[in-house]
Amino acid sequence: MSGNLKGKNIVLGVSGGISAYKSADLLRLLMKEGATVKVAMSANAKKFITPLTFRALSGSPVYQNVFEEIGDDAMEHIRFAEQADLMAVVPASANSIAKMAHGLADDALSTLFVSFSGKVLVAPAMNDKMYSNPAVTENINKLKSRGIFIVEPEYGKLACGAEGKGRLAELEIILKEIIAQFCQKADLAGKKIIVTAGPTREPIDPVRFISNRSSGKMGYAIASEASKRGGEVTLISGPTNLVSPPGIETLYCECAEEMRRLVFDKFSQCKALIMTAAVGDFSPENYEENKIKKNLNGGNVLKLKRNPDILSEIATRKDGQIVVGFAAESENVFENALEKLQKKSMDLIVANNIAKPEIGFGSDYNEATFIKKDQQIRYLDRMPKTELANLLLDEIAELIEVG
Ligand code: PMT
Repeated sequence: MSGNLKGKNIVLGVSGGISAYKSADLLRLLMKEGATVKVAMSANAKKFITPLTFRALSGSPVYQNVFEEIGDDAMEHIRFAEQADLMAVVPASANSIAKMAHGLADDALSTLFVSFSGKVLVAPAMNDKMYSNPAVTENINKLKSRGIFIVEPEYGKLACGAEGKGRLAELEIILKEIIAQFCQKADLAGKKIIVTAGPTREPIDPVRFISNRSSGKMGYAIASEASKRGGEVTLISGPTNLVSPPGIETLYCECAEEMRRLVFDKFSQCKALIMTAAVGDFSPENYEENKIKKNLNGGNVLKLKRNPDILSEIATRKDGQIVVGFAAESENVFENALEKLQKKSMDLIVANNIAKPEIGFGSDYNEATFIKKDQQIRYLDRMPKTELANLLLDEIAELIEVG
């Protein structure tokens, strides 16, 4: 891979953290792809890596202090940065993320960020406890809701010795995501796409419900990528902790029956329906108006009834729409997925093994097999859900085209 960023001007924003040294490698990778890169550093970044390293590697002065001269070409350098095609903040510390979320400008990096109006990609890296702090989550969600692309950190051994989620994503993944920001297709322009995401909650009583481990990440990634490719996306979401991607109509629901109603309302106008949601197969036969008391003698028995199968029902209403389902399987993944594809009259099914902890439910990654109606099969390796979303959308765009 080389030349993918030819002619692109990129600002690499470096903030303070152990992984700051990795941004020197990223700088080299970006330049190898043909980009012109200039570096801006936060005040704390300089405690981890010197501006001289970036100056030597990039061949350009480094923007590191708002109030100091960086040479005769200072203004030109800053103007370049403000007019760059993309700003990539790698690594992004909790502090720099907070400043970006709240518009604080007290060092070179944060000042440049608030004066920059182009595409921004942010790759957080920090201790796992910091990363899971609700304030950090809220700040990241704020950035996402403004259309800033987040390359999620990975789970693994951290610099502090602990193990958890917070390690800077692999540089190859960050590079791919940067390249992807410039390769946006418009093949879904004007096409109405419905995506369902997340779990359903089947209420038992005012306190309890039956649900599952779906986080909604797979569905939200598809919705977001489809919108970037020009699709008019309606996201029908069960309860999740995710923020609605910008520019997308998001309709919320709780139980399978509500999701069914929303899908049926919208289906006739759409070109494609992508059912990523983990719809509950069962719900309690009776909803108890009051909280069920513990039955200490005999134990409580919960009677269940089957929920409507949205995909099976929608098959009878198809009028040229492309219908895609997901198969969450823990064994005989391929065989079971193939059976569902045929039984529910889908055009394509995405089979994923939800027994593997590092993919599927809750993970930022997935590993899947696409099986088409004509039994064409495509096996995919583990990859970020955004990447999988785009490969799936390639298939869907082609199916829509063929009609
Ligand atoms: O949300 P994440 O944490 O990112 O995890 C993603 C995922 C694992 C949930 C996703 O990749 C996935 O596999 N989604 C499908 C989950 C599921 O319900 O699978 P299933 O094999 O039980 O159902 C097959 C298909 O029928 C699905 O498209 C489902 O949406 C649909 N279905 C299921 C039951 C039902 N009552 N009505 C339906 O339409």
